[in-house]
Parts: sequence; C-alpha cells; structure tokens
Amino acid sequence: MKMRAGYCIFILLVSLTLLGIVDVCNAGKLSYKFYKRTCPRAEQIVKEIIQNRTQSNPSLGARLIRMQFHDCFVRGCDASVLLDTVNNSTAEKEAIPNSSLSGFDVIDDIKTAIERVCPKVVSCADILALAARDAVSAPFSKPLWDVQLGRRDGMVSLATETNGNLPSPFANFTSLIQLFNRKGLDVNDLVVLSGAHTIGVAHCATFSSRLYNFTGKGDADPSLDPTYAEALRKQCPNPGSPTITVEMDPTSSLSFDNHYYDILLQKKGLFGSEAALLTNRNSRKIVTRLQRSRSSFFPAFAKSVKKMGAIEVLTGNAGEVRQNCRVVNP
Ligand code: HEM
Ligand SMILES: *[C@@H]1O[C@H](CO)[C@@H](O)[C@H](O)[C@H]1NC(C)=O
Ligand SMILES: *[C@@H]1O[C@H](CO)[C@@H](O)[C@H](O)[C@H]1NC(C)=O
Ligand SMILES: *[C@@H]1O[C@H](CO)[C@@H](O)[C@H](O)[C@H]1NC(C)=O
Ligand SMILES: *[C@@H]1O[C@H](CO)[C@@H](O)[C@H](O)[C@H]1NC(C)=O
Ligand SMILES: *[C@@H]1O[C@H](CO)[C@@H](O)[C@H](O)[C@H]1NC(C)=O
Ligand SMILES: *[C@@H]1O[C@H](CO)[C@@H](O)[C@H](O)[C@H]1NC(C)=O
Repeated sequence: MKMRAGYCIFILLVSLTLLGIVDVCNAGKLSYKFYKRTCPRAEQIVKEIIQNRTQSNPSLGARLIRMQFHDCFVRGCDASVLLDTVNNSTAEKEAIPNSSLSGFDVIDDIKTAIERVCPKVVSCADILALAARDAVSAPFSKPLWDVQLGRRDGMVSLATETNGNLPSPFANFTSLIQLFNRKGLDVNDLVVLSGAHTIGVAHCATFSSRLYNFTGKGDADPSLDPTYAEALRKQCPNPGSPTITVEMDPTSSLSFDNHYYDILLQKKGLFGSEAALLTNRNSRKIVTRLQRSRSSFFPAFAKSVKKMGAIEVLTGNAGEVRQNCRVVNP
C-alpha cells in the first residue's frame, strides 16, 4: 500500500515535470491544437455563430479580416483593437483609421458563448483570428486556412499607436514595405494580403483626392484609369458625403478570389496605396503572378495570413485571457 502510494506520487511528479517541460516548450509558440484539452468545443462554437451571422450579414468576412489586420499591426495580435476606451485613454478602435471597423458585437456573442462552456480559457485574440477565418470562408465549403492558437490578450489599447503602424491609403510603396517589414512581413505578404481587398468597401474619403484636382491642374490621379475615375466621380461627388461607400472590387465585393489583381492591373485599385503596388518591379511581378493563377492565391493567402496572425503575439503567461473582450480583467 505504502509502496503504491509512493509510486503514484513518483508518477505524478514525473508527469508534472513532463507537463512543465511541454509548457516551457510551447512558450512563445502558437499551435493548431492549443485548446484540444482545455476547450475542445471552442472552434465549433465560433464556426456555428459565424455561420449564423454571415447569413444575414454577408459582408462580415470583410469586416472581420480587416479587424484582425488592424489588431495584428498595432501591438501584435493581442485583441487590443477590441478594447473600449477607458478613462481618458482613447482606444485603438476610436482612431481615424477605425473608420467603419465593425463586427465587435459578433465577437462579443462568440466570447459569451465560449465563456459559458470554458470560462477564462480562450483568448479574445484567438477568437478574432478564428472568426475572421470562418467569416471569409463562409461561402466556401471548407475553411480557407488553418488558424494557430494560443495567443493571449493584451491590456493596453491606444488610439495614438495606430499612427505609424497602420498603413495609409495614400502611402507609396516605400512606406508600405517599410511598415510590413517592421512586422516581419515581406513584399510577397504585402501583395498577397492586399488581396483581401477583393472583398469589402471603402468610404469616398479614402480615395476621392485622386478623383479631383489631384496634381493641381484640375485632373485625376494619372495612375487611375480615366474612365473608372469618371465613374467614381459619379459615385463620390465633391464635396463628398461621409457615408457613401464603394466596392473595392466592383461587382464582386462579396467573393473572395484573385479578381482584385485584375482590377489592380487595369489601374482600378481604389487607393493610392494600391496603385503603389505596381510601382515596384518585384511587387508588380507578384501581382501579375497572382492575377494569372486563381489557384495560387488561396495557398498564398493562407501562408501570409498565418504570418500576420503571429505578429508579436503574447503567449505563455504574458498578458491575460480576457473575460469580456471589451475590457481588461478587473
Ligand atoms: C497594404 C496596406 C493597406 C491599406 C493602405 C489598407 C487600407 C484600407 C482602407 C482605407 C480601407 C477602407 C476603409 C473604409 O473606408 O471603411 C480598407 C478596407 C479593407 N481592408 Fe485594407 N488596407 C491595407 C491592407 C489590408 C490587409 C492586409 C487586409 C487584410 C488581410 C485588409 C482588409 C481590408 C478589408 C477586408 C476591407 C473592407 C472592409 C469592409 O468592407 O468593412 N486590408 N483598407
Ligand atoms: C441564428 O441565431 C439566432 C439567435 O440565436 C436564431 O434565432 C436563428 O435561428 C439562427 N439562425 C440560423 C440560420 O441558425
Ligand atoms: C480609470 O481611472 C480610475 C480613477 O482615476 C482608476 O482608478 C482606474 O484604475 C482607471 N482604469 C483604468 C482601466 O485605467
Ligand atoms: C480626464 O480628463 C479630464 C480633463 O482633462 C479630467 O478633468 C478628468 O479628471 C480625467 N479623468 C480621469 C479618470 O483621468
Ligand atoms: C472613429 O474615430 C473618430 C475620431 O478620430 C470618432 O469621432 C468616431 O466616432 C470613430 N468612429 C467609430 C465608428 O468608432
Ligand atoms: C514616400 O512617402 C514618404 C512618406 O510620406 C516620403 O517621405 C517619401 O519621400 C516618399 N517616397 C517616394 C519615393 O516618393
Ligand atoms: C486645383 O488646384 C490648384 C492648385 O492647388 C488651385 O489653384 C485650383 O484653384 C484648383 N482647382 C479647382 C477647380 O479646385
């Protein structure tokens, strides 16, 4: 009896040590099965709620993949974009580039449902990464990419930090690539992830300066197709209305595909930052390659979005697992 108890304790100690070692090995790394033991239903819950919500809101994919991008580029993928403003510290979501970030309510619903089955286990940053994947994948019969998990949530969100981290629609190629490089992303990631603009819409203010008196001679931006500029002037009169939006990939803004690269090569990218992708030889080559091959876009996007989803992540004991995605834990 005594022997047996001792043996059990010995096994227990060995197990704990091994678990400890496993944890140490996992620190700083994301993994595909992170919640396999601690919250096996998490992925399914996200999937079901997103399936439900995309039926009534087919633009949710655009909303959420953009939200993930904004999250990852400011303080890493730590769900800082989800935090509400507290006291006098204005949160990221209130910053100028916030324009039209939405879908926060969907993340809240998912969080509530997951907290019910496994409280304090699944981070908001992971929920956002899964939700974005599932919403973009909704029109397809399978998930378009795998999502690594194990991110922890940050405790700070500052509107001022969107400056210099989120790219401007007026940026030239040099600025864009500098920004992406600083996040560990290369020119291929820049061009591939820009392909996300195959879905969604943009407000007139983000590009209308290209339509009216661009160089001071009453003209439009010469890097924009003149016929298309004319059509856009009809959609975005001057002075503009702050509520009008235009599809970034006209007539197919709900279908996630490589069509964006057709648009780009026809000089119909809405932003100056999109025209900029054609000003660099290497970047232009990648645009052309992706335009020619529909099948290469999907694996390329999967690879780059995996990199984006791992930017400056908090893992192990860093940060926390928020109970409510809008506020840090009390
Ligand atoms: C390369 C630099 C980028 C710039 C300058 C840029 C800029 C913008 C701007 C100005 C808008 C319009 C916002 C509005 O008026 O409401 C927009 C929309 C969008 N962006 Fe980007 N973006 C970039 C990269 C990305 C990346 C990497 C992703 C995701 C992987 C992304 C996904 C989206 C989506 C899906 C929308 C549409 C959102 C909606 O319809 O609600 N963008 N982007
Ligand atoms: C979506 O969820 C709502 C609210 O929970 C529910 O009433 C509705 O039946 C669901 N719709 C689908 C298509 O699952
Ligand atoms: C907000 O301000 C109050 C009073 O100054 C302070 O006690 C509290 O910690 C602050 N909350 C956060 C999240 O900074
Ligand atoms: C916020 O700022 C205002 C004015 O600057 C100040 O009166 C107020 O006490 C501040 N509140 C907190 C919680 O810091
Ligand atoms: C975006 O930020 C501006 C301030 O820069 C604020 O006035 C506006 O309400 C914000 N929009 C949203 C949707 O949060
Ligand atoms: C690109 O934009 C940056 C920032 O606006 C500017 O400093 C730089 O001179 C521009 N580069 C080129 C090549 O136009
Ligand atoms: C266009 O810009 C130039 C230079 O800034 C200015 O002199 C001119 O009045 C503008 N024209 C119109 C129609 O706004």
